[in-house]
Amino acid sequence: MSNNLSSHFLLREDVTFLNHGSYGACPRPVFEAYQAWQLELEREPVEFLGRKPTENMRLPREILAKELGTTAENIVGVTNSTTGLNIVAQSLDLRPGDQILTTDHEYSALEKTWAYVARKTGAEIVVVKIPMPLETEAQFTDALLAGMTDRTRVLFLSHITSATALLFPIERAVAEARHRGILSIIDGAHAPGQIHLNLETLGADFYAGNCHKWMMAPKGSAFLYARPEVQNLLNPLVISHGWTTQSKDPGARGAFGNSPFVDEIEMQGTRDPAPWLAVPAALKFRAENDWWAITDHCSALARETAARVAEMTGLSPLSAEQFRAPQMAAMPIPECDPLEVRKILFERYGIEIPVHRWQNHHIARVSVQGYNSRPQMDKLISALGEIFGF
Ligand SMILES: Cc1ncc(COP(=O)(O)O)c(C=O)c1O
Repeated sequence: MSNNLSSHFLLREDVTFLNHGSYGACPRPVFEAYQAWQLELEREPVEFLGRKPTENMRLPREILAKELGTTAENIVGVTNSTTGLNIVAQSLDLRPGDQILTTDHEYSALEKTWAYVARKTGAEIVVVKIPMPLETEAQFTDALLAGMTDRTRVLFLSHITSATALLFPIERAVAEARHRGILSIIDGAHAPGQIHLNLETLGADFYAGNCHKWMMAPKGSAFLYARPEVQNLLNPLVISHGWTTQSKDPGARGAFGNSPFVDEIEMQGTRDPAPWLAVPAALKFRAENDWWAITDHCSALARETAARVAEMTGLSPLSAEQFRAPQMAAMPIPECDPLEVRKILFERYGIEIPVHRWQNHHIARVSVQGYNSRPQMDKLISALGEIFGF
């Protein structure tokens, strides 16, 4: 690593780390706050977990809710986006013949979640092919609208896709779903910290996002948002002290005085809440270091790198610029064995970067975070050049 910001991170010096997208990386002060919470818990577990649990958990909800344009009663901490989305998917009262509308860009763990739900309920999964290259918002929305029928109950979309690193323009599709009485469920695993999110303006019914990726909180910190009007549709995956037999309508109180939605999901037996409790430290770190400006800088470097690779390979990008994730670029590379290329990049060049196949595209997905630098991009481009003989 070779810029000033890299000194904040704990990443290994001998690895060129271009894969922030998979699991994130946590800056040192945030990691220290996380460990301090663990120590405090260990020193008086009964005080921490027994007497003050809701008090401790509330502050991250309040601070994060403000960042995300909602209120603390509408979000709850979960371990990861997969968990948040499973809570929603496994709660809905779907019936045989109901349709779950989604795209051909979804993350594999969530494809499996919906396959599981479909098998249990008899609902049908309808996968819309998003036209590629994605050039206009209308291409995206029209494809989804064409897939909506009177049997569509759920619209499930990634906000930023995993394999293809696209920023989907989901707003109009979400609004149209609401208009038609279709529940919208958004997989925002990569969005918080990479784009400015306002959950209430977006208006999706359910939204799960990770704090441990681009917000740079410790691993195991994520949130689930639910609009007040649909919170009563949810059940926790684990029934524990927070479960309530009372009304779950908007305005009702849960077992610990929060919304029933929060209490039911927040209370899940004994667990380590430290990653969640360190979310305010991550937001503080970002604010103190003007991280949105750094995001802009990273975004420019990601675009420049993708353009240089495209020029070298002659392979065009998967979408117009405005639909690319700010800090990730899915760069088409020539046909290859992706696992082999990934292995060579790591073992021969010390570069950590995902290489995969998506449909008929072979892709190297570069992530650019504040600790990355242009010389690292030069190194990647020269390694790809050597491997593919450019
Ligand atoms: C689009 C998308 N959804 C969901 C996930 C899962 O995130 P997590 O493992 O934190 O639940 C990922 C992980 O990279 C992802 O890319």
